[in-house]
Amino acid sequence: MKTENRDVVSIKDFSKKEIEHILTYAKKMVPYAKGEKYTDILKGKILSSLFFEPSTRTRLSFESAMHRLGGRVIGFAEPSATSQKKGESLADTIRMADAYSDIIVIRHPQEGAARLAAMFAESPIINAGDGAGRHPTQCLLDLFTILTEKKNIKGNKIVLLGDLKYGRTVHSLAYALSLFGAELTFVSPETLKMPKEVINECKEFGGEPTSTANLEKAVKDADVLYVTRIQKERFADMAEYAKVKGAYRVDLDLLENAKKDLVIMHPLPRVDEIADEVDETPHARYFQQVWNGIVMRMALLSLILGATE
Ligand code: NCD
Repeated sequence: MKTENRDVVSIKDFSKKEIEHILTYAKKMVPYAKGEKYTDILKGKILSSLFFEPSTRTRLSFESAMHRLGGRVIGFAEPSATSQKKGESLADTIRMADAYSDIIVIRHPQEGAARLAAMFAESPIINAGDGAGRHPTQCLLDLFTILTEKKNIKGNKIVLLGDLKYGRTVHSLAYALSLFGAELTFVSPETLKMPKEVINECKEFGGEPTSTANLEKAVKDADVLYVTRIQKERFADMAEYAKVKGAYRVDLDLLENAKKDLVIMHPLPRVDEIADEVDETPHARYFQQVWNGIVMRMALLSLILGATE
């Protein structure tokens, strides 16, 4: 199987066929993720969970996924408690994790850190977010969510809203959605537009993503609205952040003219960009999306470690 022993550094490293294979296999994981069926196919396997940046969902869902498959987890969520504090290089930390485990999940503030880690580790590396770079496992669970909600990805009108400059989830997702033939609209504050590099990647597949500042109009036509928070921690200048803080908000007023079956997603955490009142509407899928994270990470761990159900 092509997914066995693979690094997951960028979604771009995977062909459409390979992504489809992962998405199909993930469905098999649903009863296990729910705890309705039990398996220990990863018994004896150890995952290193190296989080150099804050995380709630990604770290816990990888841990939960590994436990549900019968494997074990070592690692840290707070790099200040590690030898990095003494000046150890990332390469050396990775070499250690490589010696102690069978697979390594890494989140790091520097773009390219996961790719670097993959050069030093024999074990597979999974990128759980590298700075403003990429977030391939979030992308896979986002695709899985759209697929379960909409039955297919092709032809859907999908709006990506928010911090498209620094948001790594939307960088991965825009590429993958284009690969699958979705129609993309980007909505963001002027200073937080989708990078040219990502737009060009989207165009590789014949797609023509459009950008607009008119959120109301974009939402009216949308099948999926994917919202992101402004990535405050990536701003070098807090005065620049202050200018865009609170620049957009999804609330009931905005949704008045939306399609009945509009699906609203968000990788979370949210700050103020989706009003709490939206949670109660049939549009809200961000908590279902969180749950899909377990399903997808179980699928990935099992495929990469070559122990499938
Ligand atoms: C995202 C991330 O870390 O990039 N969160 C996540 O993994 N679910 C989004 C964010 O932090 O805004």
